[in-house]
Amino acid sequence: MDYSFRISMVMMMMMFAFLSSSSRAFTTTVSRSRITPRRFASASSSETTEVVATKKKARVRRILSGVQPTGSLHLGNYLGAIRQWVEFQDKYCSEEPVLDEEGNEIVTENFFCVVDLHAITMPHDPKELDESTKASAALYLAAGIDPSKSKVFVQSHVPAHSEMAWLLNCVTPMNWLERMIQFKDKAKKQGSENVGVGLFTYPVLMAADILLYKADQVPVGEDQRQHLELARDITRRFNELFCKGNPYKKRCKAAKLPSRPVFIEPNPMIVKTGARVMSLTDGTSKMSKSEPNDGSRINVLDPPKVIRDKIKRCKTDSFEGIEWDNPDRPEATNLLNIYLAVQPNRTKEDILEEIKDLSSWGQFKPKLADAIVEHLEPIQQRYEQVRADEDYLNTVLRDGATAANGIAQTTLHATRVAMGFTIPK
Ligand code: TYM
Repeated sequence: MDYSFRISMVMMMMMFAFLSSSSRAFTTTVSRSRITPRRFASASSSETTEVVATKKKARVRRILSGVQPTGSLHLGNYLGAIRQWVEFQDKYCSEEPVLDEEGNEIVTENFFCVVDLHAITMPHDPKELDESTKASAALYLAAGIDPSKSKVFVQSHVPAHSEMAWLLNCVTPMNWLERMIQFKDKAKKQGSENVGVGLFTYPVLMAADILLYKADQVPVGEDQRQHLELARDITRRFNELFCKGNPYKKRCKAAKLPSRPVFIEPNPMIVKTGARVMSLTDGTSKMSKSEPNDGSRINVLDPPKVIRDKIKRCKTDSFEGIEWDNPDRPEATNLLNIYLAVQPNRTKEDILEEIKDLSSWGQFKPKLADAIVEHLEPIQQRYEQVRADEDYLNTVLRDGATAANGIAQTTLHATRVAMGFTIPK
């Protein structure tokens, strides 16, 4: 009896020890997911971030993108770029740990810049640049970019962009740039007398924007695919020219830097719906800020009445009925694509069912205008709030520039070492 009592006591104690250790494990998991700071890597950090509570290294995945503050941002900028920034941010920047396929933790760091240095590659009005830069930043926030999860900054506030662009200009062959479709289009519109050298080398500045942050992924619209490919080519060329062999290892050792290649190849992230929003006056050319006719685009901040008027006047065709994906009817496809894109909870099939009995554009256009107005209204309201608080916006931009500067300076330093510059002692 005594003996069996002792055995039950031992068993109870073992059970208690097991329960308390598993409850400790449980507490650790819960508290880790709640309190683990998903903090940004500091200037001096390598490409891994310490996750404080576990002492485990997490891989940093960096996302970078930007929009030119030229005039007002339009539906194409929003659907092709900004909306997917927000979706990605909300999906991957939660307090819950995000694991890759091998079970390793990934910390996502987002950098969204207002690329004002790009805005001066076309003739610009100095009176408007400041306002449109702030307006663009405010629109990022109004669209859902959360400064506690994503850094928002102005490109010209981080001088490393200009310096990196110069270094990369010197390693980029001219004929790579001569192939750029956007340059050819814009130069044709502008006339050769008015085309600055900056417009020609602009894709190199874009590569600098991306490579400075070692961005893994770059969420953009379809029209930027070629520029992303160029950034990948520049990466390979630079790493091949400067980041190989013993002399490179020696330079890195002297500078106390790891001797891995300086740049990593960025990948484009292109959405399925909204990656190519076309003009309202010509379904074969993309919606664009540089098109003189404002009626060709919906600006994100257009008041409801203006949106309704633009849709009422937008180009359609004289075919019978409403049809999707007929190559002879680009305007029809564009309007339906927009209708789908501004109603993200609906499917193509569901919309086809809704429109199958409509016989004229006059019946469809008010529905489209309503859907656009409804989608943009909350963004416009938040925009007014953000824009009314200049101090808040300035704080966000200052904080963003500080974080961006830290990382950009680290990469710039490694680039200078790789290229063999004398480093100031
Ligand atoms: P920008 O300012 O012309 O356009 C900003 C973003 O909007 C997307 N976009 C569109 N998407 C769908 N349909 C359209 N009609 C449409 N028009 C524009 C663009 O693809 C882009 O994603 N060079 C870039 C800005 C840039 C950048 C960067 C982007 C500079 N540095 C670094 C990413 C990473 C440009 O001029 O985009």
